[in-house]
Amino acid sequence: MSLQPIIAEHIRAKGKISVAEYMSLCLAHPEFGYYMRKDPFGANGDFTTAPEISQIFGELLGLWCAHAWALMGRPKRIALVEIGPGRGTLMADMLRASRIQPGFHETLTLHLVETSPLLRETQEKKLHDLKFPKFWHESVDSLPDLPTIIMANEFFDALPIHQFIKTKEGEVERHVALNDAGEIYFTPAGDVVRESCPLALEIVRKLSAHLIKNNGAALFIDYGYSKGSTGDTLQALLAHQFYEVLATPGEADLTAHVDFQSIAQAAQKQGIGVMGPVAQGIFLDRLGAEIRMQQLLQNASEGQRETILSGYQRLVMPDAMGHLFKVLALVPKHWQQVPGFQSQVVHP
Ligand SMILES: C[S@@+](CC[C@H](N)C(=O)[O-])C[C@H]1O[C@@H](n2cnc3c(N)ncnc32)[C@H](O)[C@@H]1O
Repeated sequence: MSLQPIIAEHIRAKGKISVAEYMSLCLAHPEFGYYMRKDPFGANGDFTTAPEISQIFGELLGLWCAHAWALMGRPKRIALVEIGPGRGTLMADMLRASRIQPGFHETLTLHLVETSPLLRETQEKKLHDLKFPKFWHESVDSLPDLPTIIMANEFFDALPIHQFIKTKEGEVERHVALNDAGEIYFTPAGDVVRESCPLALEIVRKLSAHLIKNNGAALFIDYGYSKGSTGDTLQALLAHQFYEVLATPGEADLTAHVDFQSIAQAAQKQGIGVMGPVAQGIFLDRLGAEIRMQQLLQNASEGQRETILSGYQRLVMPDAMGHLFKVLALVPKHWQQVPGFQSQVVHP
């Protein structure tokens, strides 16, 4: 059985559903949800993420975490949190690189916030040989009250969004309904003028409060807008191809652009400092991506050289991921100098 008849039945019984509810069913239905039954990464999957493209990404973020720990005053215990850890590659790369910071590893417990049982298993295998205490969480609600460093790469783009359309009667929420032929369709018709992701803002508020209470910092990396934007950004990706959003429920990954301005504002309202957003390419180069790439090239075979170079270029080039992807940090208000950023930003 697939998700299509389940969604049709749901609408028949309860009426049309919001785009957010549709997205949530597609991604997180306990049996047929996209993330519940499929490892979506890599050449045989549907998409590739930065840590899967190049080790440079995770290594530099690991150094960022180690530096953040020093700025925090080198607390004796740290919860290193990753939200939506995928295959565990980012965490593994961060830990390998951050070994060079004396004392940092001795402080760590690892906390992985993951809803997919399948990906949890992959993460457990990947991190199995690393002798840190490890804990998996269903949500950010159960994170421990410890000084905390949080990493989230391509997490927020997977959260359900609401879409709104301008009509003669004013702005109306877009829904998914069922026609007489049993097919799902968007209603009302018209162009999407606004999107919102209340779940992202709720999570950001919780994380901000957690960091203020316990001391710490967070780094969010995702694709999206620096300033609130209009238009339809919901997209479906299956085997590295774009599909119509309603065509393959549960089969394709569904994501939407992240509204960094709203996230920054929500964090600031809680009283935490915000750095960025900065374009991923600029951020990684400020952290030394090019130098790391050159180092890797020195010890590489001819075949490896091509992979290292093209991986670096995909991460930083503006026409690849370098511009579309952005980096935002939540930091204590008194931090002035944070690697990768210029200064704290006030988001009006
Ligand atoms: C696009 S993947 C990114 C994976 C990884 N960060 C990387 O860069 O390769 C999204 C991740 O978020 C997880 N995820 C999606 N929705 C979630 C939720 N509501 N709570 C926790 N994890 C979630 C997915 O299972 C997956 O691990």
